Amino acid sequence: MLTAVLLIVSLTARHTFSLEWKFPNDFKLGVATASYQIEGAWNTDGRGASIWDTFTHNRSVLIKDGSNGDVACNSYYKWEEDVEMAKNLGVDSYRISLSWSRILPDGTTRKINQPGVDFYNRLINKLLENDIEPIVTLYHWDLPQKFSAWGGWTNPAVINYFAHYARTAFGLFGDRVRTWITLNEPRLICQAYKGLVGDVTSDFPLGTSEYMCAHNLLKAHAEAYHIYDKEFRRTQKGKISITLDFTWTEPANSSNPDDVRAANQNIQFDFGIYANPIMKFDYPKVVIDRVAQRSRLENFPESRLPKFTLAEKLRIKGTYDYIGINHYITLYGRSSPEPPISDPHIDLDAAGERFSNPNWEGCAAYWIKIVPWGLRNLLKWIKNTYRNPEILITENGYANAGDELEDDGRIRYYRSYLNATLQAILEDGVNVKGYLAWSIMDNFEWTHGYTLKFGLYHVNFTDPNRTRTPRKSVEYFKNVTRTRTVG
Ligand code: NOJ
Repeated sequence: MLTAVLLIVSLTARHTFSLEWKFPNDFKLGVATASYQIEGAWNTDGRGASIWDTFTHNRSVLIKDGSNGDVACNSYYKWEEDVEMAKNLGVDSYRISLSWSRILPDGTTRKINQPGVDFYNRLINKLLENDIEPIVTLYHWDLPQKFSAWGGWTNPAVINYFAHYARTAFGLFGDRVRTWITLNEPRLICQAYKGLVGDVTSDFPLGTSEYMCAHNLLKAHAEAYHIYDKEFRRTQKGKISITLDFTWTEPANSSNPDDVRAANQNIQFDFGIYANPIMKFDYPKVVIDRVAQRSRLENFPESRLPKFTLAEKLRIKGTYDYIGINHYITLYGRSSPEPPISDPHIDLDAAGERFSNPNWEGCAAYWIKIVPWGLRNLLKWIKNTYRNPEILITENGYANAGDELEDDGRIRYYRSYLNATLQAILEDGVNVKGYLAWSIMDNFEWTHGYTLKFGLYHVNFTDPNRTRTPRKSVEYFKNVTRTRTVG
């Protein structure tokens, strides 16, 4: 008996002491991009227009520098150089997104645009030749323009068109793609850029279209998942899921139950609204109850949050092989008095107050502060809330405003967040399977145009050649991939 106890103690001790502060061998260390932000060639070789082409062309005043993604990093032509950069970084994975309207110009499968297919084939093949795994997002916000007039994602008709597009993409590329992401950051699709969802929806009353959009996106995701599962998984043997953005909300005072409740409520409205139907069942109860209650007081005939049928709940439940997380923001959350009934808004439904700490180190993107424990806490929260799923960190990154190449802030950022990831894996037992840095190079940062630069590589956007130059952080990241430590 005593010998057995001693043996166990010594095995445990050995295990503890030999624990290396290193990323496990099968952990993906990569970089991320998205089609509209890097490709350019917006009207080349048969590509159809997307809502971002139309928006940036027609409403350039809403883009900080009046710019657009017409050329962006010109990666439609410079893809070989991009792969070389990835190779130089030593990454084992590279996240891209497919431009739906480059493959299906009007969004429907009536016509497949071969040059667009050829482009992605060349890129995927080149990555594989270099031992870099392509991680492919089907939808990173560039909805084919044709759907805009229908109300974009607020129209349930788009669900099936997305499903057909997904099937086409699995058929065309799935023999070489092992990791699929259906949708990138649905919350942003429905809230931040809701004017872009369709021409019509910008006129919809607040607090309604967000939920209609979320509802349809969840169904679209589930359809794509089931198509993969039924028609492709057996032969292609990949994994498929969704990427959700996660703003970690820490209770301002964790011994005050009201603050704890307020923080959790914010997490449920941001994240649970998408994660719960997929990883548990239906929308979170607090979301269902609060929207119903406020809708009643606002005189709506029924809740502004649409309801799933039982069949729909069951169809959405379990549609994940891992969970993709984009993380940039940590905030404190505290309780506040119930907002008065006025015009509806999702923020009023979520209630509570959120704020940042002015002492946290920031960067050029006002919403990004260096708060690595926020990432660690959210990873633990996912583990505990959803029964320890596989997690892929599909984005995390830092922005500069100028052209400096000495980006020590970015190095501090990556080192601290990679370390938080290691702590979550090695100390908290969270099942994190990979970390993709946003981004390999500066690119079109949506309404911020080219004013925010997220790249490990600097891109010169005034040079027709779109010359890429490594920042200091490239050396840092190379060291991470070589040693598999945080350096
Ligand atoms: C998340 C989005 O997915 C990506 O497109 C964007 O550039 C980064 N956040 C940085 O804001």
